[in-house]
Amino acid sequence: MKQIVNVSKNWAIGKKGQLLALIPEDMKFFRRKTSGKVCVMGSTTLESFPGMAPLQGRVNIVLIDDPAKIRPESLRAAQAEKEAGRSTELIYVHSVPEALLKIEEYVPDDVYVIGGATIYRLLLPYCDTCYVTHNDIDDPDADTFYPDLLKTGEWARTETGEEQEQNGIRFRFCTYTRIR
Ligand SMILES: NC(=O)c1ccc[n+]([C@@H]2O[C@H](COP(=O)([O-])OP(=O)(O)OC[C@H]3O[C@@H](n4cnc5c(N)ncnc54)[C@H](OP(=O)(O)O)[C@@H]3O)[C@@H](O)[C@H]2O)c1
Repeated sequence: MKQIVNVSKNWAIGKKGQLLALIPEDMKFFRRKTSGKVCVMGSTTLESFPGMAPLQGRVNIVLIDDPAKIRPESLRAAQAEKEAGRSTELIYVHSVPEALLKIEEYVPDDVYVIGGATIYRLLLPYCDTCYVTHNDIDDPDADTFYPDLLKTGEWARTETGEEQEQNGIRFRFCTYTRIR
């Protein structure tokens, strides 16, 4: 299983429940990698999507502690997808062991952990590849962080993309691979 994340300076990934950076080229990369695949996320990340709707054309596995917190907006959006004949699925799980059991039903290479911070950390031990888009935003109000993979001693940066720039934000696509 893999992780896919967009990080700013100091490995910051969010602020007040939202992303720090919207980079169209990175969103395209995310869509290309995850379309038709399985996306594993926390309930906060699902709720941050427009209309709290699951990602179209993907299996959305969502971790939520308390079933009472499931949002009707998300269920309605998933139902609408089904009625439209699209292959979008929304599956709730309530613990990491339950998430891992569900994930076992799919080809490991097709499974992407897409956030947020809590779920990235909980599932990192089960992942072997992380697609990290590094950007140069330095936001002092960032309140959510991804682990600095190089400091863990368990990961190496195995691919470093060319620096690109969009909307005044500089970024590069990198791949980290588990070494231990
Ligand atoms: N930069 C990026 O690439 C990127 C990607 C994704 C998200 N983000 C950012 O990350 C932030 C959200 O991160 P977050 O850590 O607050 O939220 P999160 O990881 O998306 O979701 C946390 C929620 O997941 C559920 N959960 C956590 N542990 C669980 C467990 N062991 N079993 C069952 N359910 C569990 C709980 O839901 P309940 O409390 O509802 O039960 C918890 O509140 C936002 O700012 C978002 O924009 C950034």
